[in-house]
Amino acid sequence: MVPVLEMEANALAAAPSSAAGTAIHVDRVTVSYAVGKNTRKVILDEVELEIAAGEFVVVLGETGCGKSTMLRMILGQEQPTAGAIHVAGKTIDRVGASCGYVPQKYSLFPDRTVLGNLMMGPETANYHILGRLKPSFRAFRKAVREQAMKQLERMGLHATDADKYPHQLSGGMQQRVAIAQALMMKPTILLMDEAFSALDPGTRGSLQQMLREIWLETKPTVVFVTHNTAEALFLASRIIVLAKQTGPGRAGAKVALDMRLPETGMSLKKNGQRFLDLVEHIELCSQGFEAAAELTLNFEGNAQ
Ligand SMILES: Nc1ncnc2c1ncn2[C@@H]1O[C@H](COP(=O)(O)OP(=O)(O)O)[C@@H](O)[C@H]1O
Ligand SMILES: [Mg+2]
Repeated sequence: MVPVLEMEANALAAAPSSAAGTAIHVDRVTVSYAVGKNTRKVILDEVELEIAAGEFVVVLGETGCGKSTMLRMILGQEQPTAGAIHVAGKTIDRVGASCGYVPQKYSLFPDRTVLGNLMMGPETANYHILGRLKPSFRAFRKAVREQAMKQLERMGLHATDADKYPHQLSGGMQQRVAIAQALMMKPTILLMDEAFSALDPGTRGSLQQMLREIWLETKPTVVFVTHNTAEALFLASRIIVLAKQTGPGRAGAKVALDMRLPETGMSLKKNGQRFLDLVEHIELCSQGFEAAAELTLNFEGNAQ
């Protein structure tokens, strides 16, 4: 059973945003790798998770517990060893167009300008190379260019940045372009893997703010992996902690905490001690599945 912090879950429960149905179902997913001839290393152990459309789910957990693996499976880049991933009710067996993906290390095309990078996705998805000879391609291109310029502005970049090449931009600016690039495809699901982890604190803060605004405006389903608990509490409408099982005969990570948060976002400044208590609770949960179960009892006991 998943140890959910009942008291907190009830007190913090956001209005259900599941009216639009289940966006992602991680359906009893196990991932293991062969180690030698007869042994397998289990990474995820029958992980079960349903994410409703419009949720902002932040996945936390210690390094190596399988966060990136889970994200890549939702993207369709990797397949579970057992179980399945369903996106909008369909089992995922390849990379599809419904997910936008932003990893920590931006992957812009170095030989294309910012504008070229932004336009490339929609162009390739809609017109193959010969199709570009059609008269309709010009009008399509114009519309895509307009969208790209809007996205740039939305991400806090200048119109003059459109003609720059990636190497002429700072890491923070490149990451803004990477997010704009993902949004150009109008994904219903946005997957972000430590997308802000390499940025300086100022840039990180402004990108967090901007991502929150985008989410509140258009309510895409977001699955955001991070190491940073404060970032998680600021962004998430729901926090999932993955933690390795440490008991005898157990292997792989499971969901150790599943907690809903208010849509207003939490910060130390706004929530004070409550914020600090939650940070401590979440960090203890990430230390181990058994520790999380024990901690839940303690926390509930203390609260009575
Ligand atoms: N192809 C692979 N073969 C063997 N082990 C792998 C492979 N890919 C990932 N792993 C292992 O899976 C575990 C989880 O990795 P990952 O999902 O990257 O964790 P996280 O993102 O939480 O840090 C790590 O221990 C990693 O070494
Ligand atoms: Mg990772």
